[in-house]
Amino acid sequence: MSKNVKDTSDLIRAKAGEAPVSIGLILGSGLGHIADSVDGVSIPYADLPGFPHTGVSGHKANLVIGDLEGVRVAVFGGRSHYYESGKGDAMRVPLEVVKELGATTMVATNAAGSLQADMPTGSIMALSDHINFSGLNPLIGEPTDLRFVPMMDCYDPSIRAAMADAAKAEDVEMHSGVYAWYSGPSFETVAEIKAIKILGADAVGMSTVPEVILARFLGLKAAAISAITNMAAGMSDEAISHEHTKAMAPLGAAKLEKVLRRWLRDQSS
Ligand code: HPA
Repeated sequence: MSKNVKDTSDLIRAKAGEAPVSIGLILGSGLGHIADSVDGVSIPYADLPGFPHTGVSGHKANLVIGDLEGVRVAVFGGRSHYYESGKGDAMRVPLEVVKELGATTMVATNAAGSLQADMPTGSIMALSDHINFSGLNPLIGEPTDLRFVPMMDCYDPSIRAAMADAAKAEDVEMHSGVYAWYSGPSFETVAEIKAIKILGADAVGMSTVPEVILARFLGLKAAAISAITNMAAGMSDEAISHEHTKAMAPLGAAKLEKVLRRWLRDQSS
């Protein structure tokens, strides 16, 4: 364990208490308000050694440790994206810390563009798999053989099934599909969207995949849900911009929150 991970974990325990965390939850653009309803302690990333300095509007850079639906969670109010720093492993220390705090599972949420006509803006999609269209990898440079991480079933099948049950119980339609990671920060071209659709993508976005690779590397179970904020380039006349992403995210966020809360409640009962 690196010194940063040890120091940061000790600092968090000193502020938030010793009780182990069970789930790390990363919130995507415009999806941050779940953090506000956690009954716990909020710590700015700036106070946490090794945490990224996220600068993307729509992201609140706080770690919140506390109770959500009876489960002790660590909520990352913002993530660092590859496009901010050129570093694919910017979320490595935060994920190592959450594991050190006791977490066995990481759940990521994100805003994404849809490649499926029947999955419009405002929909949510559980990731069943991903395509690393960027070709980048957060484990490049990792010196140990642990870097050869198997990625089959990297979106944990039992969590996916439990989340699908939670969505049904809440009467929320939750799609399931393949997410393509495109590095950003520019959005995709129409030709790129056509290409990844042929390759099997259902949604596209600029995050999550590095975190899922890191989570699997660390032995954490992983799950992720997208809130669809727009149809991908060339699929509709809808605007594609960061402003539009932030404005549309709350549509999916309300559904996503219902599913996550139900899933957490099901575990704690
Ligand atoms: N492409 C990439 N990332 C995104 C999109 C998109 O269309 N929408 C929200 N995040």
